Amino acid sequence: MSHSSPDRPERSLVKSLLAADGPREEVRIQGWVRTRRDSKAFSFVEVNDGSCLKGIQVIADADLANYESEIVHIRTGASVEIVGALVESQGGGQAFEIQARDVIVHGNADEDFPLQKKGHTMEFLRSIAHLRPRSNLFGAVFRVRSRLAYAIHRFFQERDFVYVHTPIITASDCEGAGEMFRVTTLKGEDFAAGNDAKDFFDKRAYLTVSGQLEGETFACALSNIYTFGPTFRAENSHTSRHASEFWMIEPEMAFCDLGGDMDLAEAMIKFLVEDALENCAGDLDFFGKFIDRGLHERLEFVRDRAFERVSYTEAVEILQSSGEKFEYPVEYGHNLQSEHERFLTEKHFKCPVTVYNYPREIKPFYMRLNDDQKTVAAMDLLVPGIGEIVGGSQREERLDLLQSNLESHGLSEEDYWWYVDLRRYGTVPHAGFGLGFERMLMFVTGVANIRDVIPFPRVPGWAEF
Ligand code: 4AD
Ligand code: MG
Repeated sequence: MSHSSPDRPERSLVKSLLAADGPREEVRIQGWVRTRRDSKAFSFVEVNDGSCLKGIQVIADADLANYESEIVHIRTGASVEIVGALVESQGGGQAFEIQARDVIVHGNADEDFPLQKKGHTMEFLRSIAHLRPRSNLFGAVFRVRSRLAYAIHRFFQERDFVYVHTPIITASDCEGAGEMFRVTTLKGEDFAAGNDAKDFFDKRAYLTVSGQLEGETFACALSNIYTFGPTFRAENSHTSRHASEFWMIEPEMAFCDLGGDMDLAEAMIKFLVEDALENCAGDLDFFGKFIDRGLHERLEFVRDRAFERVSYTEAVEILQSSGEKFEYPVEYGHNLQSEHERFLTEKHFKCPVTVYNYPREIKPFYMRLNDDQKTVAAMDLLVPGIGEIVGGSQREERLDLLQSNLESHGLSEEDYWWYVDLRRYGTVPHAGFGLGFERMLMFVTGVANIRDVIPFPRVPGWAEF
């Protein structure tokens, strides 16, 4: 708590004290101890409160009342409150430090606190996801995550997009890939028999894989909308880029075609990168030093330079004539694999690339058929190091074509009656996309595994915490 009382100054964040413009008579901080070092007449205690990467150095003199009884027993991980003077630092490491008048130990840490000051593997840190936010790396990751979430709202709100909360429980499989988690309260025989009519919603229900279909209904009323929420996929992918629970941003624009959709996706990526460079400088410097040495160069490049666009057909030709040995051969009519996406961005174009107009057979039912009758108005935005970060399309707004798409994808019009209705009552060309929030965070931080940009990751075989 940060109540002030007559004898206690208001609490400051470490971040603001490190940036102070001069010494101060009396300050108060609260945080967790990173290290304690004792010398003859005093102890150094480094305190971090998560407000920034750095901690502040506290000097606790041996004549403090609780010096022998408490201060010399403070361990890494303890929570403390310090009242004292902010003074210019004698040592070289920092501008300011605190000369303590009062050190309150709220809770000491047991000796076996797992985050002692030494290098830990990412695997180990995942196994202590309840403590890892106290490490430099994860503090930085989750500050950037918070800032980017804010930047996403800023981007869309400044452009008059309306934020829509689409449902988490749904009965439709937007992507048609059948990778859905079932939501059920059925028990016993009814469960064994799959008695859907007796289930909670009187039908089969799932956790959503995308808010797009519901988002489209709102775009066909409010013009420009976006969603930003959790999505779930029961795909058994054990890669560094797939999670079973992740957050997606899905804008949808009425009266918009594929070109406008690609423009928006590129503008959004540039905006987010620029926002991070401006507002997360300290944390990005840390990633640049310890996680990914090329980070700044890549981010500035993305902020300042134009992206490339190629059709799927051109992309296939580039890949086939590249002379590169791929694990999966490139063939027209097949999905691009992540090795192909990475070749395009990292070796061929050396920048983000949007691939558009994919063969209709490999894409979901809702995408708009192009005049060539072979391809649909789909687009994927690929970035170096990751591959697909955005997937989107112009939607099929023509009733008869949507109906035949449903049929050819083995879906029944009855289940999608409300979605089909949009094509009956004032249909418009419209388009949208989905940005994987965690993939964007990986791109901005250089963190290589999606499990390390989600507070409590859920992946096949792992739902601890
Ligand atoms: O390409 P996807 O599947 O597209 C959709 O869901 C559309 N309904 C979006 C739309 O048009 N409104 O997913 C969109 C993005 C991907 O490009 C990727 O960044 C991310 O979501 N994504 C995942 N991120 C983490 N783990 C997973 N398992 C992901 N699957 C997709
Ligand atoms: Mg996709």
